[in-house]
Amino acid sequence: MLSRQDFIRISIEVNLFFQRIMKEHLFFIETNLKPVETANIAEAKVLKQSFEHLLAETVHYANGIISEDALNSNEIVTPYTLRAEEITSMLTGANLNTQITKAEYELTADPNCYFSDWLENVIDDLNRRSYNMLKEVITFKEKILALALECKIFITLYPEMLEHISREAKYYLEILKALQDRKLPKQTLCEELNFWNNIMGEHGEFIDGMLDPTEKNLKEAAENLAEKFEKLVEECIKTGEKQIIQKSLEATEEIRDFKRAATEGLLNCKIKSIIPPLLADHVLREANHYLRLLKMMKQ
Ligand SMILES: [Fe+2]
Ligand SMILES: [Fe+2]
Repeated sequence: MLSRQDFIRISIEVNLFFQRIMKEHLFFIETNLKPVETANIAEAKVLKQSFEHLLAETVHYANGIISEDALNSNEIVTPYTLRAEEITSMLTGANLNTQITKAEYELTADPNCYFSDWLENVIDDLNRRSYNMLKEVITFKEKILALALECKIFITLYPEMLEHISREAKYYLEILKALQDRKLPKQTLCEELNFWNNIMGEHGEFIDGMLDPTEKNLKEAAENLAEKFEKLVEECIKTGEKQIIQKSLEATEEIRDFKRAATEGLLNCKIKSIIPPLLADHVLREANHYLRLLKMMKQ
């Protein structure tokens, strides 16, 4: 049973991270559908805005509550997020609420903050609304994936990526469900590690597949990272050893450095690819989030 303080803080941190992730998934769907898909584009946009509203609320309550660790992890925003949003929004013509990002840069931690029962109720309600909205998002993502697999729509996101973003949404759903019972999701060490190691490996594959064919060195690095995570998944299933945490940590630091360099390179127009800067920053934040989880697991 989580204490009131843990319930509030963990809820805020989980929502800060995942509500942004969700609204960006919807932005990627919105901007990768073809103009003929007016209804689906409109639906992606509405769902994106719903998550922006939820995120703006979370940011409002997060000040002081968020932990120093979460704040310093660069999983909420990175130093690149605002610029990546501005450039990606300009290049696609699709809207992103950068006021939220600016407010996130101003967030501070306060070890002496007070966790009232009023705040507990507010956060409980926010979690419930996020949960309900998330269910709609999952249904939408699965619909888009099914249409893509039936070749009824043309979308410039790989089916694997559509499946990947559904999996991330379902993982978030499980956390919200557990939080509403004042618990954390029950998962074995390998289930947790393999979820994220699969995610990291797929990021390597997506980056590899979206780089220009002439970017040979970067493509090779992305491919090697993908392979490294694939092996970690197999190893955890076979051996289930604690040292997988350390190995995962090292691999994730490596992919984090790679993604950070890629984000900088894309923002400065130094890499040939079909990767929007915001997607690079998005996967960088996911690596930063996983790194914070790994460091907690190590303790
Ligand atoms: Fe994602
Ligand atoms: Fe991802």
